[in-house]
Amino acid sequence: MDAQEKQIAFEEEAKRISNTVSKIKHRIAVFSGKGGVGKTTVAVNLAYGFHLKGFSTGILDADITGPNVPKMLGVDEDPIVLNDYMIPFEKHGVKMISMAGLLKKGQPLIWRGPMRSKVINQFLADVVWEELDYLIADLPPGTGDEILSIAQQMKPDFAVIVTTPQQVSVIDAERAVNMARELKIPFIGIVENMSTLLCPHCRKEIGLFGKGGGQELAKEMNIQFLGSIPIDTDICALSDNGTPFILEKPDSEASKACKSIVDFITTQLNKQS
Ligand SMILES: Nc1ncnc2c1ncn2[C@@H]1O[C@H](COP(=O)(O)OP(=O)(O)OP(=O)(O)O)[C@@H](O)[C@H]1O
Ligand SMILES: [Mg+2]
Repeated sequence: MDAQEKQIAFEEEAKRISNTVSKIKHRIAVFSGKGGVGKTTVAVNLAYGFHLKGFSTGILDADITGPNVPKMLGVDEDPIVLNDYMIPFEKHGVKMISMAGLLKKGQPLIWRGPMRSKVINQFLADVVWEELDYLIADLPPGTGDEILSIAQQMKPDFAVIVTTPQQVSVIDAERAVNMARELKIPFIGIVENMSTLLCPHCRKEIGLFGKGGGQELAKEMNIQFLGSIPIDTDICALSDNGTPFILEKPDSEASKACKSIVDFITTQLNKQS
């Protein structure tokens, strides 16, 4: 490919991305500073929260090297490719695209940032999302290339920053909030995940990872605190079995927290539009 051909391919891809984005009413990026704080769990359950409210919803797994969304949805197939376009998977009524279906089990993906960004571009340019009310991007930990690509290409209107209550997570969440601000994402909110554990025997609340760190950060940084999701041992088991807890245990405290986050986001974004 010579320079001119590359330029044409680049412009065509940009057009396809902008066409996709124009058909998606609201776009949400879920990220954090620290790994393992529950981004994928939150992204998946918020997506089903929107779906339960009757919105057409999709999940874009932007964690290219550690894609976990298909596992949490129990999807274990290759995506369908039709005339250079990919058809997203659909599970319990929510659409989803991920790198996981394109990788062999256990195979590591050792790619530099530009390659990972290219896949994100393709997930927007070449996936047949059709019209959606909400598209939720689940990002890898940190403030690297993937969030830059999502910000530039998907143009999220809401950044959901996930943290656990302890300081090592809150410090990294602060970086994530500042990144969302620099990227000019209009709305930013913090979710505190793994807040407290309710002892199944004595029902006493245990602050396994401390308590209130996310709420304090939101207050300090003057941004919206979206809610706290408690530790629930069923969440882990359900995730491993490919079932979002909001579908299986709709009356649990964790599901109620997710539903109230969904209500807040829909109200906020409706006001804006
Ligand atoms: N509130 C919770 N209660 C119990 N288990 C939870 C909760 N939230 C998440 N988990 C479990 O913690 C583990 C990590 O969650 P998850 O994969 O969503 O984190 P992550 O931030 O996406 O990780 P990564 O940084 O690797 O992408 C999973 O096994 C998940 O089931
Ligand atoms: Mg994840």
